[in-house]
Amino acid sequence: MNTVLDFARFKAEGRKISIVTAYDAWSARIVARSGVDAVLVGDSAAMVVHGHDTTLGATVNMMVLHTKAVVRAAGGRFVIVDMPFLSFRKGIPSAMTAVGALVASGAQAVKLEGVDGHEDVIRQIVGSGVPVMGHIGLTPQSVNQFGGFRVQGKRAEDAERLCRQAHLLEDLGCFSIVLECVPSELAARITSELRLPTVGIGAGPGTDGQVLVLHDLWGMERSHTARFVRRYIDGERLLTDALDRYNADVKDARFPGPEESYS
Ligand code: KIV
Repeated sequence: MNTVLDFARFKAEGRKISIVTAYDAWSARIVARSGVDAVLVGDSAAMVVHGHDTTLGATVNMMVLHTKAVVRAAGGRFVIVDMPFLSFRKGIPSAMTAVGALVASGAQAVKLEGVDGHEDVIRQIVGSGVPVMGHIGLTPQSVNQFGGFRVQGKRAEDAERLCRQAHLLEDLGCFSIVLECVPSELAARITSELRLPTVGIGAGPGTDGQVLVLHDLWGMERSHTARFVRRYIDGERLLTDALDRYNADVKDARFPGPEESYS
């Protein structure tokens, strides 16, 4: 079972880190049977599970429920939970109440987006003994400010800002940083400059690890797939086929058969 200390060790050993999202017990149980290193209870749950268009609909209560379900089934995997929109932007006491609820749900670490303007909150969380994962680049909670889900850090001044933010997160004591939707070259540069491990999503191969939304990896969403997603199975088709076969079996009176019935 991995701990927060393993993240630094993996980087030192040049061993890549694999993380996937999970929001419920059944998917966490499957992840726990795999070799994946850690589970992120992402606020993408608001989109993937609750049908919102953005992650802004996630709340602390929502993340608490998902975290409890994941932790029950994650078999001791390292579980990181997202601090939802604005939960860390209303001052330190309010942020620490949210952190308390999320850690009490069983998560070993919290992830929060951005750094400018809430450096004091990050310092307080780390100082309280809770490992913090940073997240810069395309931070989806700022989608309205970005004017959509766009690659960040293409212009030289934006790239410099992201490098500065990455160093600041390291100085504040984060144990790892997610780099989302940034040019590969920039992600590789940040990765080489930092002591802490970077975890990329849409950030190319030069980071210390990768994170993917499990439902994307399983191909559960055909309607929109970002360029950075690799679908390992066509889950939506497999599940739809299974439902269609069940439906046909019911309609044609092939289900249930004698072996599925009690005498
Ligand atoms: O919420 C989430 O799933 C995330 C990952 C995409 C990094 O933050």
